[in-house]
Amino acid sequence: MKERVFHCINVEQFDYAFLEEICDLADKIREISRTKAGMEYLASTLNHKRAMLYFVQPSTRTFLSFYSACQMLGIKCAEVRDPKTSSEIKGESEEDTVRTFSLYFDLIIMRHPRANFAEKIAYLLNKTDHPVPVINAGSGKDQHPTQALLDIYTLRRSFMHRGGVAQKKIAFVGDLRRGRTVRSLAKLLTQFEEMKLYFVAPAEYQIGEDIIAFLEQNKTEYEITDDFEKVVPEVDAIYMTRLQDEWDQEEGGHVDIDIERYSFQRRHLDLLKPDGIIMHPLPRRTEIAAEVDGDPRAAYWRQVRNGMYIRVALIAGIFQRDRKILEYYLSNNL
Ligand code: NCD
Repeated sequence: MKERVFHCINVEQFDYAFLEEICDLADKIREISRTKAGMEYLASTLNHKRAMLYFVQPSTRTFLSFYSACQMLGIKCAEVRDPKTSSEIKGESEEDTVRTFSLYFDLIIMRHPRANFAEKIAYLLNKTDHPVPVINAGSGKDQHPTQALLDIYTLRRSFMHRGGVAQKKIAFVGDLRRGRTVRSLAKLLTQFEEMKLYFVAPAEYQIGEDIIAFLEQNKTEYEITDDFEKVVPEVDAIYMTRLQDEWDQEEGGHVDIDIERYSFQRRHLDLLKPDGIIMHPLPRRTEIAAEVDGDPRAAYWRQVRNGMYIRVALIAGIFQRDRKILEYYLSNNL
């Protein structure tokens, strides 16, 4: 029988217990990686594996954090970032290109503009003699499951002394309709008790009906508004996003709205709760003023760092090295 492979495609796969486990593991990996011996141990855990990073949409952080995560585990990486350099230019289908990767590599990490492409590839590979795990590193306007994991991890660390993620009020601000990070995180937050989510955007960029239906199905409270200033003092976390205008052309043009109304300026710091946090998946434009960066409540650079650890934990879990890493942690009295 073929070995069962674990793909990471969308956030509907994750339940509360999984979130707890992966965040705990990421914390322990963080501790282990503080010493040279710990780093050497981690780098020995998967040094017989190879990964393909297939990123045919722009990326800085997600690409580099997966790259670093693989390096931490000793996994050797190759990359295709521009389809023009692969045989796609000769007329090969993307499906055939990715199937080829599965014959050389043990893991495929992919970012693609089509919403369901990663899922399709996982399904296709499952039917071949050589299925390898697929991780979705961003699929069109739809999902970004590993960003949602790092966001949960950041919320959990930020609210560690305030009872964790449950019962928090979280506002999403910006282009919510086309922002895949928002869509994935909003869905994942339904795993926590008594949350309230706020969607702050002009009507043109409001959150999709499918997400609202998902929240209702899962009995998560929400509010839809365009009043940013009113929401800032009410929430525990504020998740800023940029305008996703790379989709304008395909959608038939640009909608002209005053996006400055949806930006976090220095003066908003006085409105935010003393223990509230500001998040952003990055890259940012003008949604958060640079003067905000120095405030301890600015969590977006911490998010970047957390992204690396949670991805190490995810990949270790996919290759069933989580237990071994926990044993190392315990036997070294960390
Ligand atoms: C986001 C993305 O690609 O969806 N970036 C990221 O992965 N951290 C957000 C964005 O591009 O606005």
